Amino acid sequence: MNRTQIIETKDLVGKEVNLFGWVNVRRDQGKIIFIDLRDRSGVVQMVFVPSNKELFGLAEKLRSEWVIRVKGLVKERPEKMINPNVPTGKIEIEPLELEILNEAETPPIALDTDGYEIGEESRMTYRYLDLRRQRLLKNFSKRHEMVLFIRNWLSGKGFLEVETPILTKSTPEGARDYVVPSRLYPGKFYALPQSPQQYKQLLMVAGIEKYFQIARCFRDEDTRGDRQPEFTQLDLEMSFVEREDVIDLNEKLLIDLVDSVCPEKKIQEIPFPRISYKEAMEKYNTDRPDMRKDKDDPDLLAFCWVVDFPFFEKTDNGWTFTHNPFSAPKPEHMDDLINQKNISEILTTQYDVVLNGWEIGGGSIRNHKPEALGAVFKVMGFDKKRIEENFGHMLRALKYGAPPHGGIAWGFDRLVSVLQNEPNIREAIAFPKTGDARDLMMGSPSELEPEQLKELHIKIDSNRQ
Ligand code: AMO
Repeated sequence: MNRTQIIETKDLVGKEVNLFGWVNVRRDQGKIIFIDLRDRSGVVQMVFVPSNKELFGLAEKLRSEWVIRVKGLVKERPEKMINPNVPTGKIEIEPLELEILNEAETPPIALDTDGYEIGEESRMTYRYLDLRRQRLLKNFSKRHEMVLFIRNWLSGKGFLEVETPILTKSTPEGARDYVVPSRLYPGKFYALPQSPQQYKQLLMVAGIEKYFQIARCFRDEDTRGDRQPEFTQLDLEMSFVEREDVIDLNEKLLIDLVDSVCPEKKIQEIPFPRISYKEAMEKYNTDRPDMRKDKDDPDLLAFCWVVDFPFFEKTDNGWTFTHNPFSAPKPEHMDDLINQKNISEILTTQYDVVLNGWEIGGGSIRNHKPEALGAVFKVMGFDKKRIEENFGHMLRALKYGAPPHGGIAWGFDRLVSVLQNEPNIREAIAFPKTGDARDLMMGSPSELEPEQLKELHIKIDSNRQ
């Protein structure tokens, strides 16, 4: 007999079903035992009565989270037992067979609450149990629906999803890199990508024209509520476009995504308002303003675009980029960049998309000419040797007919979190790191065996804290 999903039982009155799942709750009410059985699709009530001695005896043994199979008859509940709050509330199961597939120790954390009240250490150590809670199941179902929608939508517009390497090269891109030692080349290291930025631009040089990727990114920075060492971007890049084209496409995708995956949400203003960096700082004192008119409404979405950021900011001994070294300046500032004049006045084509006070994405039009990209590195004071070592591959590629191009990356975990009204992106990531960057469930980071270290030509300086 095939397996029936629990949610299907509501339409199967009078039929025999074969159910598999976990004991959600056991309630002994004198002579009757009620067992709520749970699978991914829902929960259903089963009623064990003493007249069936053998089954009743087995049911008495059951505890929360045991895994069982039950063959049973779907029956209508007596009128006054109907529970209008659950989808299967009009029916119950009369068990005919019960098989215990696995026992379970008492879970160390409560699973029937939303889990916010439980400390991070316990939740992350037992993440596979934490994930059983309904709230997280809902977040991951939504996340899946969103990925699916985005993939189909972009494919429909002619975008190709292309995977880019995880083992790549360390370049100064803003954050600290995670690095991987090379066994074959003593003293040399790969770096994990902070984003697929350079590869996606090289794909434009390669003629892909419209690229996207649900891409994993790695940044060795301190974890916060909206920041994880390992996170996911919806990354995209397009050739032969201007700023308006990229903004327009992304705005349409965001609107369609909300309409179809989160129809209960209301977007405050369409088209999304635009605000310059300067105005945002003056008016809101932040470059990611929360524009919601009613902050108590959990279903209100206030998107906005922040534009016209300064390209460079002063450091102790020169200049560095504010967002992305590969960005083009606004066209009217190109001459100043090439001539390295009025540096503080140069504005970039960078656009950030902000939702309810969260920066959920950012991108720009890129420098597709080598002299413009080279000028950025010169402003930052890089000498020829450093430019060649770090970015020679990019400058070379731009010499072989690079099309004008631009793109964006969304912080996908952040977007899922805001749409699910979650305060922290770890609620939208299946196996996130803790606030101090550990995976308590796996026990990482961890030490290596001396043999492994030797193979990698690594000696640990144990004097350093
Ligand atoms: P940027 O660095 O702005 O741009 O990243 C794009 C978006 O990614 C999200 N994000 C993060 N989310 C979770 N944890 C983190 N540590 C984290 N860091 C960033 C943010 C951010 O807006 N290559 C460029 C994009 C481009 O220009 O096309 C880039 O990575 O929501």
